[in-house]
Amino acid sequence: MRVGVLTGGGDCPGLNAVIRGIVRKGVQEYGYDFTGFRDGWRGPLEGDTMRLDIPAVRGILPRGGTILGSSRTNPLKTADGPARVRRTLSELDVDALVVIGGEDTLGVAATLWAEYGVPCVGVPKTIDNDLSGTDWTFGFDTAVNIATEAIDRLHTTAESHMRVLVVEVMGRHAGWIALHSGLAGGANVILIPEQRFDLDQVCAWVENRFRIRYAPIVVVAEGAMPRDGDLVLKDGTLDSFGHVRLSGIGEWLADQIEKRTGKEARTTVLGHVQRGGTPSAFDRWLATRFGLHAIDAVHDGDFGAMVALRGTDIVRVPIGEATAAVKTVDPALYQEAGVFFG
Ligand code: F6P
Repeated sequence: MRVGVLTGGGDCPGLNAVIRGIVRKGVQEYGYDFTGFRDGWRGPLEGDTMRLDIPAVRGILPRGGTILGSSRTNPLKTADGPARVRRTLSELDVDALVVIGGEDTLGVAATLWAEYGVPCVGVPKTIDNDLSGTDWTFGFDTAVNIATEAIDRLHTTAESHMRVLVVEVMGRHAGWIALHSGLAGGANVILIPEQRFDLDQVCAWVENRFRIRYAPIVVVAEGAMPRDGDLVLKDGTLDSFGHVRLSGIGEWLADQIEKRTGKEARTTVLGHVQRGGTPSAFDRWLATRFGLHAIDAVHDGDFGAMVALRGTDIVRVPIGEATAAVKTVDPALYQEAGVFFG
């Protein structure tokens, strides 16, 4: 049996740990051979492969990124895409594919299995933790740790200058990183995409914080929006790779706070720092277990399934569960954090 592996979409700490788990168990327990496909779905589309065996995965557990490379290439949006993927797999004698990705990459896997019979098993990944079907995605814990450390550092410089410091974190559709890092870092305001914010209220919280002689830290998710919707962001525009750009909320917010409160405000955009570098212990643990269970699913012929975390158990769910809806922050959790605002 030969198994193909690919990583698609935005990279995420823990991808290499998944690959290592798949290959180690696949070779040692099942005697499988592996083919690594480069750059997500581009690999099977173009037949671009790399060697994937035990020596190839040695030492990669703590490494960020992905040894396979990644891209957002989508065979369903490519002429003759599904047929080309099938042709590559048949030419290379690849019997099954483990697809590690987020919403788009897994959506392709679900369709290729359901409509074209390409035998895929899915592994969910995103630092945003916004995939349904699984309690947590690996990469999220690392991103929260990075954002929390940044907030800790920003507290001391904010206090020295008695400034407002706005921290923009990732999260286009869900505020998980903002909520968790904001709570862990003791932020005074947390703004998430799930709930439009009232600028007057934000300024009131900021002013209140200054009254008790303490410089406020405002954590804002990149997808957060003000209630009145008068915001002019760079959103909606596509860059030359076809990605939606959503940057700008942090800068806009600091500007508004400064104008309305008269307090000096600065912005830090954490950006891709949140996605880079070595995964946390939790993410290595989760990613490794996802890898081990994904190759079990291949062994069982359970195609169309995705591994997922429920409590502390790894279970299998249909891949479509992950892509059906964005897993947003529960309003009760956000409300709970509100005691620290202002
Ligand atoms: O992985 C998801 C995510 O981190 C989003 O929070 C962010 O908007 C996006 O990826 C940015 O990805 P890229 O810069 O690779 O398009």
